[in-house]
Amino acid sequence: MRMTRTAAPIAATEPETGGVADAALAAEVRTLKATRNAVILAHNYQAEPVQDVADFVGDSLALSRRAAATDADVIVFCGVHFMAETAAILSPGRTVLLPDLEAGCSLAASIDADQLRAWKAEHPGAVVVSYVNTTAAVKAESDYCCTSGNARQVIEAIAPDREILFLPDMFLGSYLERVTGRRMHVWPGECHVHAGIGPAEVSAAVKAHPGAELLIHPECGCVTSCMYLSAVGDVPVRTEILSTEGMVRHAQTSPSPAFVVATEIGILPRMRKEAPDKDFFPLSEAAVCRYMKMITLAKVRDALRDMKHVITVPEDVASRARTAIERMVAIG
Ligand code: 13P
Ligand code: SF4
Repeated sequence: MRMTRTAAPIAATEPETGGVADAALAAEVRTLKATRNAVILAHNYQAEPVQDVADFVGDSLALSRRAAATDADVIVFCGVHFMAETAAILSPGRTVLLPDLEAGCSLAASIDADQLRAWKAEHPGAVVVSYVNTTAAVKAESDYCCTSGNARQVIEAIAPDREILFLPDMFLGSYLERVTGRRMHVWPGECHVHAGIGPAEVSAAVKAHPGAELLIHPECGCVTSCMYLSAVGDVPVRTEILSTEGMVRHAQTSPSPAFVVATEIGILPRMRKEAPDKDFFPLSEAAVCRYMKMITLAKVRDALRDMKHVITVPEDVASRARTAIERMVAIG
């Protein structure tokens, strides 16, 4: 992966202080966006002011599809590094900007291409399924990519007699083994935010919000123990395991008036906006992805103003990764 930075400052960066400052920054962002013929794509975990200036807010799968379909010249990706790389691979003719190069992902960092090559060598002939939270170099070593939105369908699309290496999230991997009935070799990676959401945190939240439906992201440490959860002590609970986009859609259509949400807390403002008559409670206030929160309105403005930081993927890596990503985009 090569990252280039072209800086042509127009004005110095100001601190972002909320309220009036946010409104002024948002106006600047909109003007620059039109000048650059840019589209702003934001993940569901982005800070609310960033989501508010985005043209589209969604989960990894929907964002990949939007990036592939856009006719804008510039994509400002408000998310983390692997997401911007995926956009660059799917939209080779566009300039993809990531407002902060430090916006990484602890899960994507849990395996590199050398480790994957060594693992593949131990299992010759196995099909490699990589979760989208991986670097482009890891995707280039993979047969299929998937997201939490279509992981089950991707596994089910693989012939039942094939050995599967699934990486890098062990909680999602064990969940998929159970729902599909497939045995897989699962890489022992985890996301530091979701791994901290375990059975003890679930019990406390269900007792604090009796009657609320429980929505769980499959990266959570509690995912397999919650698959068939129907009560905590004598408190009954309905549980759904969903991607971030699945959570928003489910909240809109479910008859439940209240939800406990087990994922990064950045998704809550969007859920409250899109299902305003319902109540949403974070399962854990500590579920904050510091990488996602590195993107601020000021950095989005700077990215558009200075055309930084351009994310590029070498074509030999991109062309091998593209096949796996295009399979992901096509399934589910
Ligand atoms: P989604 O694909 O569900 O948006 O999740 C991405 C992610 O990084 C979860 O931590
Ligand atoms: Fe990565 Fe976890 Fe942050 Fe998602 S929440 S971007 S998996 S570190």
